[in-house]
Amino acid sequence: MNTETFRVDPVNPDPAIIAQAAELLREGRLVAFPTETVYGLGANALDPVAVRSIFTAKGRPSSNPVIVHVAESSQVGNVAAEWPETAAQLAARFWPGPLTIVVPKKAGVPDEVTAGGPTVAVRCPNHPVAHALILAAGVPIAAPSANRSTELSPTRAEHVLKGLNGRIDLVLDGGPCTGGIESTVVDATGPVVRLLRPGLITAHMLEEVVGRVETGANHEAVVRSPGQMAKHYSPKTPVVLAADADAEHKRLRDAGFRVISVGTDLIWEYRSISDNPQEYAADLYALLHDLDNGNYDRIVIEMPPNTSEWAAVRDRLTRAATDVIMNDSRPDA
Ligand code: TXA
Ligand code: MG
Repeated sequence: MNTETFRVDPVNPDPAIIAQAAELLREGRLVAFPTETVYGLGANALDPVAVRSIFTAKGRPSSNPVIVHVAESSQVGNVAAEWPETAAQLAARFWPGPLTIVVPKKAGVPDEVTAGGPTVAVRCPNHPVAHALILAAGVPIAAPSANRSTELSPTRAEHVLKGLNGRIDLVLDGGPCTGGIESTVVDATGPVVRLLRPGLITAHMLEEVVGRVETGANHEAVVRSPGQMAKHYSPKTPVVLAADADAEHKRLRDAGFRVISVGTDLIWEYRSISDNPQEYAADLYALLHDLDNGNYDRIVIEMPPNTSEWAAVRDRLTRAATDVIMNDSRPDA
């Protein structure tokens, strides 16, 4: 298969280009498109054959359900059997935006989307290209992140092509994604909202809207939301997450490895990254994609602070890492 790339203006996408992409989606083809979090790999969510081809292209296990994207809250009724009060409150506050809400699915949503389960994950992205594309397609769009399964998510069109060139029909290149990490996923099917995947919408922000939110993986949540499985979001180069990145860097370097570090104010060879959690998230995957091309044996990443505003970044770093070294020899730690 030949993968085409169309450039689109991320703010005012050309309606003629969007119409072509929407036509492909209606024909059951796969189109990667930018959202405010990461690039998604889209297919018509109501076409089981099209959704199955997402799994083939990504090498994704069919047990991992995908998110359905809608252009407006009013389209939720096409895929959800119920829209609980907590879901309505969260959507009113955070949509369009990086929040995915799990609710009971409507009959007619293919098992391919929900991994055979009774619930569907719905999100209304805040990106002009995604919005225009879903509207033009006229159907809800199933879209996981546009990467090969377990690899790093893409925040630029070139990252999509690195993993999926020749495996999908089209990439809409709308430039870099501003959010940088995948949406927050919550389960709104129970009496208390449960956080399934941390993201830029923090537990604290959710609690301001719906009161107490359950956090922390329980076994059931892990099974129901395989994005919580440990092996995920990894570059090919092994990542070592370390409280004392310089000490770890030196240890590995002395052992003969080619090492690059990521952090702020390190001593050994490193790439600096913002100490603001939103800016850090926006740059993280692009930096890791870049370092993955750099012929290193190890990427050492300095562990960010253990505070709620860093929870989503720490979650992704922990999943990317093959080793987590928490011993900290710094005198002020
Ligand atoms: O920001 C994002 O969420 C991006 C963009 C493209 O929207 N999408 C994304 O999709 O990250 P994906 O497939 O890489 O991650 C979807 C996550 C997975 O952890 C999956 O297990 C969970 O959502 N999920 C999907 N449907 C679910 C359901 N019915 N119940 C629980 N978890 C579900
Ligand atoms: Mg993904």
